[in-house]
Amino acid sequence: MGVKAFPVSADEAARLATLHQRCFKQSWTAAEFASLMNNPAVIGLVFTEDERDIGLTLLQTIGSETEILTFGILPERRGLGLGYGLLQAICDLLLASGKHNVFLEVSENNKPAVNLYLGFGFKQISVRPRYYDDGSDALIYRLALPQ
Ligand SMILES: CC(C)(COP(=O)(O)OP(=O)(O)OC[C@H]1O[C@@H](n2cnc3c(N)ncnc32)[C@H](O)[C@@H]1OP(=O)(O)O)[C@@H](O)C(=O)NCCC(=O)NCCS
Repeated sequence: MGVKAFPVSADEAARLATLHQRCFKQSWTAAEFASLMNNPAVIGLVFTEDERDIGLTLLQTIGSETEILTFGILPERRGLGLGYGLLQAICDLLLASGKHNVFLEVSENNKPAVNLYLGFGFKQISVRPRYYDDGSDALIYRLALPQ
């Protein structure tokens, strides 16, 4: 099995939007992806397995802090360790470019994602009570990369 994560330009916003739509109930349009990706602080990554698109992420870096804006693996490829694989690819990319910390926001109700991030080594640093429409708290997680 050959998995690979690589950056794509805003020209490929529709490719990311297609993946996002298959990963999330409330998805972002290609125009929304393009607008985000036209910001030089933002990088979109496509994750492939044997050349087929299976996941995506969008990263925004300010100084040495990188936020994961979105992250997903296609439903039919979940539970196989690929979420860990994409997180590892993000960390490798950030380490190679001298960035030191990664953080994100996740609903307390999103158990697969909460377990993924905690299992990978993220620590909770804050909480936004009742942040989401369903009344759930947003948990803020951070991972310090080795310097
Ligand atoms: C969250 C998500 C990325 C996990 O991807 P994945 O490829 O299934 O994750 P992995 O197979 O690498 O699993 C890693 C860990 O996640 C946790 N996990 C994954 N699926 C789970 C599930 N259905 N229930 C509970 N925990 C789960 C487990 O702790 C697992 O570790 P383990 O196998 O050692 O127990 C995927 O479910 C997804 O894309 N969800 C929809 C989009 C989303 O919610 N993204 C996160 C937004 S913040």
